[in-house]
Amino acid sequence: MALPPQFLDELRARTPLAPLIQRKTRLTKSGRNWKGCCPFHGEKTPSFYVYDDHFHCFGCGAHGDAITFVMKAEGQGFPEAVERLAQEAGLEVPKATPEAAARERAARDLYGVLEAAAQAFQRRLRLPEGAEGLAYLRRRGLTEETIARFGLGWSGGGRGAIAADLKSDGITQEQLAEAGLIRERESGEGYSDLYFNRVIFPIRDRRGRVVSFGGRILGDGQPKYVNGPETAVFSKRRNLYGVDMAREAAFRGAAVVAVEGYMDVIALHQAGFGGAVAPLGTALTPEQMEELWRLSPEPVLCFDGDGAGARAAARAAEAALPLLTTERSLRLATLPAGEDPDTLVSRRGQAGFQAVLDGARPLSEALYGLLTEGRPAATPEQRAGLRNRLVEVANQIADKSLAAEYRRALLDRFFESTRAQKPAFGGGGGGGGRPGVRKVAVARTRPAITPGRARIAQSRALLAITLRHPWLLPEVEEVFAGLDLGDPQLADCRACTLRWFAGGHELDSIGLMDQLARDGWGELVSALLRDPGLPEAASPDAQPKDALDAWWHFFGLLRGEAELEEDRVAAQRDWDAASDPAVQARAQQRLIRLSQTLAAIRRGEWAEMDGAEAAGDAAAGSRH
Ligand code: UTP
Ligand code: MN
Repeated sequence: MALPPQFLDELRARTPLAPLIQRKTRLTKSGRNWKGCCPFHGEKTPSFYVYDDHFHCFGCGAHGDAITFVMKAEGQGFPEAVERLAQEAGLEVPKATPEAAARERAARDLYGVLEAAAQAFQRRLRLPEGAEGLAYLRRRGLTEETIARFGLGWSGGGRGAIAADLKSDGITQEQLAEAGLIRERESGEGYSDLYFNRVIFPIRDRRGRVVSFGGRILGDGQPKYVNGPETAVFSKRRNLYGVDMAREAAFRGAAVVAVEGYMDVIALHQAGFGGAVAPLGTALTPEQMEELWRLSPEPVLCFDGDGAGARAAARAAEAALPLLTTERSLRLATLPAGEDPDTLVSRRGQAGFQAVLDGARPLSEALYGLLTEGRPAATPEQRAGLRNRLVEVANQIADKSLAAEYRRALLDRFFESTRAQKPAFGGGGGGGGRPGVRKVAVARTRPAITPGRARIAQSRALLAITLRHPWLLPEVEEVFAGLDLGDPQLADCRACTLRWFAGGHELDSIGLMDQLARDGWGELVSALLRDPGLPEAASPDAQPKDALDAWWHFFGLLRGEAELEEDRVAAQRDWDAASDPAVQARAQQRLIRLSQTLAAIRRGEWAEMDGAEAAGDAAAGSRH
C-alpha cells in the first residue's frame, strides 16, 4: 500500500536534507542552499545542489528528495528508505491496514473536493450574488491580479449552495463534510454550510494544494472570520496562510515575515513582500516556526506596537528558544501602534512596511527588552530574581554553545542596566555607561555620521570580525597590520591581536579573547562585540565565506583606492618572490582578494555609503 501523503510530508519536513547528504559528500553553503560534488557520478568540480527540500545535480541530472536520496545512495527500496528515515526522525511508519488504505484514498480525493470547491467559490464571486463581495475586496484595495492569485471567492448564501455546485462533479455530502465545508446539523437532519455570505480565502499547503478555507463577513459582524475545521488534510497548527507563495518568494531572496491575518498577508504580497505568511487565527505554534525555518534561517516575526503585541512577541520568543540553533534564528519587528500591515501599506505604501522590516531586531538583541519590559528590577531581590530568570531563559536553548552566548549576552545587558541610572535596553541603547568604559558608539541611532565616525564604525566592524574569526588572520595579516584604524585604542587592540597570532596559538576566538582580556582589553572587546550596529559577519555563527567577504569589504572601505592598488602590487611582488608554497598561496589569496576589492570600488559599489549603511548592507548581504 502507498503511505499516506500526510505521513510522507511529515517525514520530509522532519528530515533536513543537507545533514543527510553531508554524510555522503562534503557540502558548502552556496547562498541559501548548499553545493558539493555529486555523490552519484565522479566529479571534481561541484555541480550538485541541495535546496530546502530537494537536491539536483546539474552534471548527471540526479534529482529528488530525502527519500530518493537514501534510495539512491544506499541502494534501498522505497519502503526501506522510508523506514530508515522514519526511525531517525522518531516517527512511526503507519501500518498497512484496510482502514488506512481507505483513509488514504479519501485524503487523496479530499484534495480534489477542496480544489473543486475553491473553483466554485471563485465562480460565484463573478456572479451577480458575488458583486457585493467583489466590491468589498476592491474597496479594501485589492487588485484583480491579487484577487486571482489568492483565488479569493464568494461563499454563496448557504442553504446547500456549495453542495449544489459540486453535485455535477459527483461529489457527495459526506465528502464535503470530510473536507470541512459543511457539517451535520445538531438535530441530525441533514447538513448546514460552514460559509455563507462571506468572502472566501482558500488556504493552501506548501505545495499549493487547497486544504481549507477562511471566510470573512462583509463589514462588521461576528464572527469576523470563520475558519475550516481540522480535517485529514488540514491542521491549523501546521499550516500557514500564504506559505506556497512565500516559499517561492523566499527562494528568490524575499524576507520571510510572519504577520497576523489573512488580509495582512494579501496586502503585503500586493505591496511586493512576497515572503509574508500568517498563522490561522492562533499564536505561532512550534510546528509553524519549523515551517518558517524551512523557508529562511532567520524569519521575521511581526508584532503589533501595543502592550499586547509586546507580550505576544515575548511569548513567541520564549517558545522559539528551545528550537534555536546556530543556523536557525529569528528577528522581531514591531508595527507602529494602531496599525496592522494591511493598514500600514494602504496608508504609507511599500516604504511604510519596509521601514518596519528594516527595524527588525535579532532575537538575541531583542530578548532582554522583552523579558524585562514593564518590570524594572529595583530591589536586590528583584534583581536577583531577574538574573536567575535570564539564565533560565538562555538555558532553554538546546544548543549548548548557543545557550552560553545568549547567557552571556543577557547577563551583559543585565549588569549594564543595573549599574547605570536607567535600564538600557531597546535597539542601540548601548550607552549604559559602565564605569571606566568609553561610551560605545552605536551606528544605528547616531545622527548624521561624520567621515571620522564612519571610519571608526568600519574599523570596529573590521576588528570585531577579526576577533570572532581569527582563522582569517593568515590571509589578512599583512594588510591588516598596516591599516589606519582611525582610533588609537582600536589600533592597540589590533597590535595585541597580531602579537597573539604571531605566537602561533590555535586560531580560536575564545583563546584570542582570553588573551585580550589578560592584556586589559576585556571591556573594550565586550563593548565592541555587543554593538548592535555590527554586521552579521561579526557574529560567531557567520559562515566563513561571509566573514571573509565582509572583512575585505570593510578593509576596502577603510583603505581607499590608491592604497589598495599599492597593496595589490605588493602582493603581486610577494607572490612572484615566494619560494615557500604556503607563503605563495597566501600571497595569491591576498592578490585575488585585493583585485576583487579594487574592482568593487571601481564599479562604484560602495560609493555614497557611509559607515552605518555599509555595515547594515554587509549584514543584510550575509543573511542570504
Ligand atoms: P484581526 O481581527 O486582526 O483581523 O484578526 P484582520 O486580519 O486585521 O482582518 P481584517 O483586516 O479586519 O479583515 C487577525 C486574524 O485572526 C483570525 C484571522 O486569521 C485573522 O486574519 N481571526 C480573527 C479569526 O480566526 N476569527 C475571527 O473572528 C477574527
Ligand atoms: Mn486588518
